[in-house]
Amino acid sequence: MEELELRQEMVAACRRMNDIGLNQGTSGNISARSGDKILITPTSLPYDEMEAEDIVAMDADGNFEGKRKPSSEWRFHHDILTNRLDVDAVMHCHSTHATALACHQMGIESFHYMVAVAGGNDIRCAPYATFGTQALSDSALEALEGRKACLLGQHGQIALGGTIKQAFALAIEVETLAHMYITARQMGEPPVLSSEEMVRVMNQMKQMHYGVTRSQQ
Ligand code: 13P
Repeated sequence: MEELELRQEMVAACRRMNDIGLNQGTSGNISARSGDKILITPTSLPYDEMEAEDIVAMDADGNFEGKRKPSSEWRFHHDILTNRLDVDAVMHCHSTHATALACHQMGIESFHYMVAVAGGNDIRCAPYATFGTQALSDSALEALEGRKACLLGQHGQIALGGTIKQAFALAIEVETLAHMYITARQMGEPPVLSSEEMVRVMNQMKQMHYGVTRSQQ
């Protein structure tokens, strides 16, 4: 995809995440790999004022180019995209139910088979660290090990994908699962699927190109 097209897609995704209630205000941020550059949303700019030229370009060493300052979370975007060569897009948002769980430092167990779309038998919650810090980046990277999504303690969620569309779809899925998990827990602790069953689910998803991957290819 051409860089301009990618920048436009990032702006559209930011606006859409607020329009559908997945995020609020200027919270959240998006990045995507473009050749050897990382494109990232600027800090604190309302999404309805954001244009393609406001997207900031960052190199592998964390140097920036552009008229705006990069997102305050450039460290975790940079660290994820330089360490996780299996993904090309990172989406961070403060979706309500995922954040509610994260405020209790709770991840999502295998209470529902769709938890497997994040790559394993749970979606971990990274311990709290101050926003914009290296500590938060380190904590997020660890929680994302072997996964394409995680919650961030007292903060929000991160979803990864091969494309912005995939990361977006996974962020919606994480938020939906968090909502279901909170609802299910109101009737008592729900039973979880065994790790053997979750392996079967992941194999089935792979074989059938099921869910997020298929719909976004
Ligand atoms: P930025 O506006 O700097 O991207 O910050 C928003 C945010 O969600 C911080 O975690």
